[in-house]
Amino acid sequence: MTVRWGVAGPGAIATSFAQGMTMVDGGEITAVASRSLERADAYADRFGITGRYESYEALAEDPGVDAVYVATPHAYHEAMTLLFVEAGKHVLCEKPFALNARQAQRMADAARTKGVFCMEAMWSRFLPAYRLLVDLLGEGRIGEPLLVEADFGYRTPVVPDDRHFDLHQGGGALLDLGIYPVQLCTLVLGLPDRVAADGILGSTGVDEQVAAVLHHPGDRLGVVKAALQVSMSCTARIAGTDGWIQLPAFMHCPESLDIAGPAGLEHIDAGHEGEGLRFQVDEVHRCLAEGLTESPVMSLDETIAISGVLDDIRAQIGVVYPGE
Ligand SMILES: NC(=O)c1ccc[n+]([C@@H]2O[C@H](COP(=O)([O-])OP(=O)(O)OC[C@H]3O[C@@H](n4cnc5c(N)ncnc54)[C@H](OP(=O)(O)O)[C@@H]3O)[C@@H](O)[C@H]2O)c1
Repeated sequence: MTVRWGVAGPGAIATSFAQGMTMVDGGEITAVASRSLERADAYADRFGITGRYESYEALAEDPGVDAVYVATPHAYHEAMTLLFVEAGKHVLCEKPFALNARQAQRMADAARTKGVFCMEAMWSRFLPAYRLLVDLLGEGRIGEPLLVEADFGYRTPVVPDDRHFDLHQGGGALLDLGIYPVQLCTLVLGLPDRVAADGILGSTGVDEQVAAVLHHPGDRLGVVKAALQVSMSCTARIAGTDGWIQLPAFMHCPESLDIAGPAGLEHIDAGHEGEGLRFQVDEVHRCLAEGLTESPVMSLDETIAISGVLDDIRAQIGVVYPGE
């Protein structure tokens, strides 16, 4: 079976996605939609795609599309996902899946009702380095994990109508970057039972710096930071009872891991060829082939729970999106 993909939103990440798709078996991009035919054409010409639409609704109606990759800014993820799910398409929706947990729940409910596959495009989870991390933790190589520290931040000029700084597009460091440290905490420690956060909001009202401590059951902590105005190490460290594992920059897509355990120090290569976004597509194909409507690696329930953690942090630092 070849999965026929549609791309919604031919922007920066959709370009990387198309590059990754060239290395994926069992699927191809057959259509792309934009608000402008010119932009759809440019993307389609570049990647040799036949179907090109100047509306997202037209893509939803294309019977030659099985699955849609939603690659628009966060604020449009809910409407787009509902549009494609209602049309009977499987959906892989960019991170953050939604602006808040209420939206995420509605999207999950719609996909489950329709019986189509749906997953947040949390690509980190499917990279060789993250697979290796899960294996190392499962083998008890650092004992019981007790602490996850992770950050992701850089300094970038404030451009008020850029999606990173525009509240209407779901701007802010937390949803764009902080979600990666948070998902690492939930991957390693499970869901937190309480959160303490502080942050600094910029002139456009988005969080330009945010830090949070996640308390997990069993006396375990996650310490996460994200920023759009401060350069951070963009690394992660997981400390356990018998050692630690370090994820080098960038912690959301590392190509190696360092581990220190009872057996000593080890540097493990976990590199990959080509664009790393492709590994999550392999997972979608695997799930579809097995008749699964959710991935056990990035379940909708975990996505909703992560949205809830982000909501909790935003409530404490005062970031509110229009319509909330
Ligand atoms: N996985 C990763 O590493 C990664 C990296 C970057 C971004 N992302 C995620 O991908 C999403 C898109 O980010 P991006 O950097 O690719 O954004 P972008 O370059 O600004 O592209 C977004 C696309 O969305 C479309 N769009 C549809 N409705 C829109 C609207 N009302 N306003 C603005 N754009 C609209 C635009 O296409 P038309 O104007 O042609 O319709 C545009 O090409 C975000 O949710 C982000 O978090 C993920």
